[in-house]
Amino acid sequence: MDKIIILDFGSQTTQLISRRVRDFGVYSEVLACDTNLDEYDMGDVKGIILSGSPYGVADEDPPTPHESVYKQNIPLLGICYGFQRMSTDFNGQVKSLDKTEYGRSKVAYVEECPLFTNIPEGFVSWMSHGDSVEKVGEGFSICAKSEHHIAAAWDKSRQFFGIQFHPEVTHCEYGVNVLENFAVEICGAKREWDMDQYFEMVKQRIIDQADGKPVLLLISGGVDSTVVGGLLLKALPSDQVYLMYVDTGLMRKNESAEVERFLKSLGAKHLYMIDAEERFLTPLKGVEEPEKKRHIIGDMFVTVQEQEISKILTCDYILAQGTLYTDLIESGKGVGKKAHLIKSHHNVKSPLIEAKRNEGKIIEPLDCLYKDEVRRLGSLIGLSDEIVHRHPFPGPGLGVRIIGEVTKEKCEILREADFIFIDELRKRNLYDKIWQAFCVLLPIRSVGVAGDARNYGYVLALRAIISKDGMSADVYPFEMQDLLEISSLITNSIRQIGRVVYDISSKPPATIEWE
Ligand code: XMP
Repeated sequence: MDKIIILDFGSQTTQLISRRVRDFGVYSEVLACDTNLDEYDMGDVKGIILSGSPYGVADEDPPTPHESVYKQNIPLLGICYGFQRMSTDFNGQVKSLDKTEYGRSKVAYVEECPLFTNIPEGFVSWMSHGDSVEKVGEGFSICAKSEHHIAAAWDKSRQFFGIQFHPEVTHCEYGVNVLENFAVEICGAKREWDMDQYFEMVKQRIIDQADGKPVLLLISGGVDSTVVGGLLLKALPSDQVYLMYVDTGLMRKNESAEVERFLKSLGAKHLYMIDAEERFLTPLKGVEEPEKKRHIIGDMFVTVQEQEISKILTCDYILAQGTLYTDLIESGKGVGKKAHLIKSHHNVKSPLIEAKRNEGKIIEPLDCLYKDEVRRLGSLIGLSDEIVHRHPFPGPGLGVRIIGEVTKEKCEILREADFIFIDELRKRNLYDKIWQAFCVLLPIRSVGVAGDARNYGYVLALRAIISKDGMSADVYPFEMQDLLEISSLITNSIRQIGRVVYDISSKPPATIEWE
C-alpha cells in the first residue's frame, strides 16, 4: 500500500499530520526523526514529511534527520522546524525572531507551486514559530510569503518543499488541501487506506504470523482486545484461537460476566476465564508509586498467562495483543527519541512481552491504528455498537484509578461508584457524547456529616473527557445539574465516599488517567 512517512522531530502535532493524511485516504506512518531510511523498506513510500519540533535549529543538540533522508529521490515536505531544518541542511539561514509569530497569517504567492494548486491566494495559515527561514537553502526558491516571513519554498528539481505554517492544525485554512496536494498530486500516493483494505491486509498478516500455531489472546474486555479477538476468529479457524480473560480484581462491575457473554457470541471455542484477584492484589499491597504498580500489574499479567497457559497449551504458541499505535508512541517506543516517556502502558513495556516480540512470536494487529480506526474496524467485522463504542479501559484497570495503595476494599468502593456514574451517563444519554468517563478514588479522607454523625469518607474524582484518539483530550462540559445529581447519588449510595469532585483538566497538561 502506498504510504507517506512522517519523521517526528518531537512536535505536539506530529500525530495530527499523520491523522490528516490518513483521513484523505493515504496510509501514513510516523517514524523517529533519525531513522536510517536505507534500512527501512521504502518500497511503498511515496513521500516524506518532516514534522515540527519544540527545538530550534540553533539549539544545542537539535534533532537531525539521518543523512539517508535527503537521498531517497522522492518528494519531501518540511513543516515549520522541518522547513528550517531543510533550509539549514542546504546552507540556507534561519534566524531567531525577537517576537514569536503565533496564530493566523495570510499567505501571498510569489511563484506558482503545486503545493498550492486550487488554493486561493490570501488563505489564512496558522503559524507557531520562534525562528524563521531568512535565506532558503541552495536550489530552493521562495514560493509564498506570510505577512512577515517566508511562508513556503521549494526545490523544483528535487521536489523538496518547505512550509513555515502548520497545515495539520484545524485553524489553518486549506491545510488539508496543502497536505493532499503534497501526498496525492506531488507524491502520487494512491488513496488505498480504508478499513476494508486494512481488514484484508491484517487477516493475511494474522495467518502468516500465526503460521499454523495456536494463538493466545489475553482479553481485557476493552474495545481493543475484543476487536483483536474478533479479528483472530475471522482470520483463523476457531480451534487455533485461545482466548484468555484474566479477572485481575481490578475490573469494572459485572465486567467478567459481560465479557464472557460477548466472547461466546463471537464463536470462541477455547475460552478461559481466570480468577486471579488474589494474585494481583497481593503484590500490590503497600505499593503506592504509579510506575511500580503498572509494572507489577503488567508482569503479573504475563506470569498469570504463563501459569495458566501451561495448563492448557503445552506446545509453542503465539501471543496476540491489542496494542494501539498510540500505546507504542506514548511509551516512547517506535517513535521519537525526542518523545518523553509519559507512562508505561503495560502491554508494551513488559520484558517478557518484549522477549516474545523479539522472537517474532507476537501478533499486534492494531499496532498502526488509532482508537477511532479500531472502532471502525470493529464495526466492520460485525461487533455490536455496545462493544465498539465502549469507553476505553486501561490494561491496569482500577489499579491506576485508585491513587496510592490498591486494596480489595478500595476496589469495591470504586467499582460501585464507577457503576453508578456510567449507568447515570447512559440513562442521561450522555455516554456516547463522552469519549471516556470513569471515577478515581483518591487517597484523601475528608470530614463530612451524614445524618447527625461525623463522617470521614474518601474523596472521589469524576473524570469525563472528549477526545478523538486519546492523544489529547478536553473536559466534557456537563450541565451542573447532572453533576450535582450524580454526586448525590454516589454519596447517598456509598457511605465510604464523603465527597465528590469533578476533574476539569485537559490533556495536555494532564493525562487522561490519573496515574
Ligand atoms: P493517558 O492516561 O496516557 O491515557 O492520557 C490515554 C488512553 O490510554 C488509556 N491507558 C491505557 N491503556 N494500557 C492500556 O491499554 C495502559 O496501561 C493504559 N494507560 C492508560 C487511557 O485509559 C486512555 O484511554
